[in-house]
Amino acid sequence: MHAITIEQPGGPEALVWDRAPDPVAGEGEVLVDVAASAVNRADLLQRQGFYDPPPGTSPHPGLECSGRIAAVGPGVSGWAVGDEVCALLSGGGYAERVAVPAGQLLPVPAGTDLATAAALPEAACTVWSNLFMVAHLRPGETVLVHGGASGIGTMAIQLAKAAGATVAVTAGSPEKLARCKELGADVLIDYRTQDFAAEVKAATGGAGADVVLDIIGAKYLARNVDALAVSGRLVVIGLQGGVKAELNLGALLAKRAAVAGTTLRARPREEKAAIVAAVREHVWPLVEAGRVRPVVHTVLPMREAAEAHRLVESGAHVGKVLLAV
Ligand SMILES: NC(=O)c1ccc[n+]([C@@H]2O[C@H](COP(=O)([O-])OP(=O)(O)OC[C@H]3O[C@@H](n4cnc5c(N)ncnc54)[C@H](OP(=O)(O)O)[C@@H]3O)[C@@H](O)[C@H]2O)c1
Repeated sequence: MHAITIEQPGGPEALVWDRAPDPVAGEGEVLVDVAASAVNRADLLQRQGFYDPPPGTSPHPGLECSGRIAAVGPGVSGWAVGDEVCALLSGGGYAERVAVPAGQLLPVPAGTDLATAAALPEAACTVWSNLFMVAHLRPGETVLVHGGASGIGTMAIQLAKAAGATVAVTAGSPEKLARCKELGADVLIDYRTQDFAAEVKAATGGAGADVVLDIIGAKYLARNVDALAVSGRLVVIGLQGGVKAELNLGALLAKRAAVAGTTLRARPREEKAAIVAAVREHVWPLVEAGRVRPVVHTVLPMREAAEAHRLVESGAHVGKVLLAV
């Protein structure tokens, strides 16, 4: 098969469409003929040599894909050759074929075309697991989503609104905030010109956000705690603003608040399967009803993955950048 290979970590030019060994479906796995994959922020780090694939997983980047099942390995039931699927991956999506643990497969939602379905698994699983399984966001609560126009943010806005929450977002331009509003965001904060903690408090009568979904990390830690309501939950899932910061525990105790951090890729297969099952149960009906839609900025040929990385690095995109085989 062909796949995007990284011989030497570096800039986007390190991504080369080359011949690669065909993957094999092991015990409990299926082989998928990839129709499309999507660029995630983590792929940029992997390309630069800062985020190696977990042991035993594909060396090719790509944390999600859509496609058709080409072969079913031993011990798999419920899936057949020819089924149209999308999948959460530990890597290997930037390729013509990928082996996937059966627990990480999802059917293509009715009404979504095969390539577009590649935009869903990583964002849906990350957002569902963090907002609902970790932070227990409830109807009537307020959530602050940082980077509302990102792949993750566009999904978080829609899932939080569908759950009956009030949604505040940050983004770096009025144009991106307008796109967040179209998706349902209620409180729009330009982080370049406004203080998000003050804005969230002003929008909630001084109470603050019940949940903060954070992709910035160190740079926002103190202000995120400041923005939290009493009994608030801060979930850190990205570290674009650094890894080390000082935390005022007094502020945390006074609010009876909690801070959590998670990564999806490093979770064991069983945990990923549980998240995928929850997404199929709770998110797929919303997608099929048109209440949650994949937000696709553009689709590029997979062999032009370097161009796709340049685009995501520039920050000009809203939602997901897809790579079609
Ligand atoms: N832990 C996990 O399991 C997990 C899983 C998936 C993703 N993630 C993380 O989630 C984040 C989003 O991923 P993605 O693939 O959706 O990336 P993406 O589409 O490239 O989005 C990155 C976003 O960060 C925003 N941003 C940059 N600086 C900001 C700031 N100071 N304040 C608020 N927003 C800012 C950018 O918005 P502007 O252009 O408006 O600045 C952009 O929309 C990444 O950090 C990624 O590592 C974590």
